[in-house]
Amino acid sequence: MTTSDLIKNRRAIYPQQFGDTDISENDIKEILQNANHAPSHKLTQPWFFKVYQNDSKMELAKSMVLHYEQNSNSKNIDFKAKKIIDKCKKSNCIIVIFMNRDINESIPEWEEIASTAMAVQNMWLTCVDKKIGCYWSTPGYIKNMKDYFKLNSNQRCLGFFYMGHFNHSDKNKSERNNVLDKTEWFK
Ligand SMILES: Cc1cc2nc3c(=O)[nH]c(=O)nc-3n(C[C@H](O)[C@H](O)[C@H](O)COP(=O)(O)O)c2cc1C
Repeated sequence: MTTSDLIKNRRAIYPQQFGDTDISENDIKEILQNANHAPSHKLTQPWFFKVYQNDSKMELAKSMVLHYEQNSNSKNIDFKAKKIIDKCKKSNCIIVIFMNRDINESIPEWEEIASTAMAVQNMWLTCVDKKIGCYWSTPGYIKNMKDYFKLNSNQRCLGFFYMGHFNHSDKNKSERNNVLDKTEWFK
């Protein structure tokens, strides 16, 4: 696949669309290696990850439900709790995404968030290449999961990356507005 094809085939693929096959440990390691090649100002390399599979994944699911329930005043709590559990069951692997804020604040925080997002894009594109479907989920309750993840005050959870097998040729390319409408070009 060319780079442009890889980028245009990338989609948010949700767990109900995932196949049952296991994702190999080698593939997960390559996805993480590629994340690690993202650029960062002053090379702070602010991203770090926790990988959940099997029983630990379902423990994580229980904690997500607990934190969701503590933060929600919705009338549909049971429905949403079941959805969280189902998403985790259907995912072969969940990578939780974190950012380590430079203790010296040598660069602005937004640059470290931007670098972590670039790391996630590297993961996402590698997944397309490996026929792994995935999406980045950023529920509001992640800000309350610091204790569960044993984070320091300078560390922050930036979401969940749900993964499972998927053939991207089954999916249409995503629609976008015309980039030339949002580009000023000085020739
Ligand atoms: C930073 C970020 C956070 C996201 N958070 C969520 C989320 O919480 N829930 C969700 O369903 N999708 C989430 N997404 C996925 C987007 O909704 C999805 O990428 C978008 O609809 C475009 O579709 P595409 O990725 O298939 O092109 C997130 C994407 C990004 C980049």
